[in-house]
Amino acid sequence: MDENVPGHIGIIMDGNGRWAEARGLPRVEGHRAGEASIMETVRECVRRRIPWLTLFAFSTENWGRPPEEVDFLVNMSRDVLQRRLEEFNSLGVRLLHLGLREGLPDDVLAWFDLAAEATAGNAALTLTIAFNYGGRREIFEAALRAAEDMASGKLREDDLDEAALRSRFYRPELPDIDLLIRTGGERRLSNFMLWHCAYAEFFFCDALWPDFRAPHLEEALRDYARRERRFGAIRPGP
Ligand code: IPE
Ligand code: IPE
Ligand code: MG
Repeated sequence: MDENVPGHIGIIMDGNGRWAEARGLPRVEGHRAGEASIMETVRECVRRRIPWLTLFAFSTENWGRPPEEVDFLVNMSRDVLQRRLEEFNSLGVRLLHLGLREGLPDDVLAWFDLAAEATAGNAALTLTIAFNYGGRREIFEAALRAAEDMASGKLREDDLDEAALRSRFYRPELPDIDLLIRTGGERRLSNFMLWHCAYAEFFFCDALWPDFRAPHLEEALRDYARRERRFGAIRPGP
């Protein structure tokens, strides 16, 4: 793997509401328009042979929005999977859901499960949809499970290390994030993959998510390729 190319890209898809408001449209129209950005980004990652892409679509804090907007987002996740499953399959995309199942309606969970099953054999790109996801909650639940496993004797105290905690995350197979992109101009994590972003390179993009296209991704990748990642060590000698 070329180290100038990120193995795992995470995207905080932000700015949908502002995109719609700027056009005098209801906020949900911004979410609807974001589907085109998702599809272009997925195709572009496949084309560039990037193996992991994780999209932040709904946070555990987003339940605090007006019920009509929450309902729209929850239903849209199901509709996009339904509408795009064939295309994902033909692109070689494997789908995963990341986050809490609790709180999501059965038909939405059923579509996340079906999409994962139907694409399980694909290997070009793993597309993870973080939906009803919170980074603190993920770490907290892993700690809780480790404590339970210790109490029941399934985990020995000596074996409790970072790897043991990580193996209790929602998706232990997800690698660390190399490149974190946030659209919409804000410069914050908003509880996205706190553990996995420990050494991520950040790229903040002013474009609102519905306007995000291949050239924006290209700019992020070009910027990433110029970064020197040191992971706390020092630059190797000549
Ligand atoms: C991102 O766009 C989508 C979600 C958070 C679900 P927003 O809806 O947050 O858009 P802004 O930030 O209000 O413009
Ligand atoms: C982050 O965006 C969550 C998603 C993109 C799903 P928000 O719009 O919810 O984040 P804040 O409220 O600006 O921090
Ligand atoms: Mg926002």
